[in-house]
Amino acid sequence: MQNFDYYNPTQIVFGQERLHELNNLVPADAKVLVLFGGGSVKRFGTLDKIKASLGERKVLEFGGIEANPKFETLMQAVDLVRTENVDFLLAVGGGSVMDGTKFVALAAKKDAEHEQLLFNGFGAVPVKEALPLGCIVTLPATGSEMNTFGVITYNQQKYPFNSPLVYPKFSFLDPDLTLTLPKEQVANGVADAFIHVIEQYLTQPQNAKVQDRFSEGLLKTLIEDGPITYNDNTNIEARKNFMWSATSALNGLIGVGVMHDWSTHMIGHEMTAMFGIAHGRTLAIVLPSLLRERTEQKRAKLLQFAERVWDIVEGTDDEKIAAAIDKTESFFNSLGIVTKLSHYNIDETAIETLIGNMEKMGLTNLSETGDLTLDIVRKILIAAK
Ligand code: NZQ
Ligand code: ZN
Repeated sequence: MQNFDYYNPTQIVFGQERLHELNNLVPADAKVLVLFGGGSVKRFGTLDKIKASLGERKVLEFGGIEANPKFETLMQAVDLVRTENVDFLLAVGGGSVMDGTKFVALAAKKDAEHEQLLFNGFGAVPVKEALPLGCIVTLPATGSEMNTFGVITYNQQKYPFNSPLVYPKFSFLDPDLTLTLPKEQVANGVADAFIHVIEQYLTQPQNAKVQDRFSEGLLKTLIEDGPITYNDNTNIEARKNFMWSATSALNGLIGVGVMHDWSTHMIGHEMTAMFGIAHGRTLAIVLPSLLRERTEQKRAKLLQFAERVWDIVEGTDDEKIAAAIDKTESFFNSLGIVTKLSHYNIDETAIETLIGNMEKMGLTNLSETGDLTLDIVRKILIAAK
């Protein structure tokens, strides 16, 4: 295991019927901007409950943050924050709204060149200040509610950013707020959370027993309770476990002291940018082919994954690994996720354009060992056709 620092200051308020506690967590004298997406939070009454909990505070609203939030949209919110002297941001939604709010928190404290916040890769953005923010999660998936990351669309490309200044002060995880999710969004969330764990777990052996066993526990929970949540809107206990798994998958804990991969995400982000396919679905297309292509590099951990996560004990090592990858792909398919590019009419010409875009973005040496080149990306995508 490698040396590490671990710090996560986000207060999690987990459970049903707790939204009134917002009143204790948002500063009493704050001028609050509530940010949300395309309207689900208005339609289903969440916004009214939030406004009631905020009581006498001055509250402004900014709606219309789209999925895969755009720089231009968020800059409108930055203008509003600045003209109205807002001093607290409240994100109500999924990853797009939470990420967008984090960007607004950073950009509102910066006078010019706001797009520069997006050009630092996974390194921390070089700024000293951000507005404080809190989150109310309506879609368990990204873990944005308890981490320092965001992903913003700028010039038709997706750019990640990272800053410890945007750890949410608090995040509400109320499973009731997710009951209105369309089934396909639940599926996207399960796939995204599953693959967040995989990106940090399925690398090289590091003798990091705690991280490995936490990861295996999260994967097993998603395998158990993801499909229940997908199929049954009444099982609130399964939904709670799914929700906490999604947050725990990317709140930093399982990723300390170990190598990270993130190739599936880098390829998937480009697919979302080019073809508009939802984030979780792009990952589920890439991952099975990537694991088959990288079996030699990941052999030891793939075997561990087969035995401990999928309980595969019969057969040779190669057979166990192949069965584990097949089971992973079938798991995504069981959630109504198609794992083939042809379903989206993506042919070899489109794959070449995608690879060209990844090259322009400098995404040429991926994986935990930095040796996943664009030639290998091409093989992976052709195998996923
Ligand atoms: O906009 P509204 O009307 O609210 O509808 C949303 C949206 O259309 C809908 N929705 C959310 N909660 C709902 C609901 N509909 C009914 N009932 C509810 N309770 O769901 C749709 C998708 O929402 P979105 O926020 O886009 O989905 P998700 O949470 O999957 O977030 C995806 C974004 O997060 C980024 C992705 O790149 C993408 O931009 N990621 C952020 C990460 C992070 N911050 O750590 C890591 C991830 O790997 C990911 O890259
Ligand atoms: Zn993701």
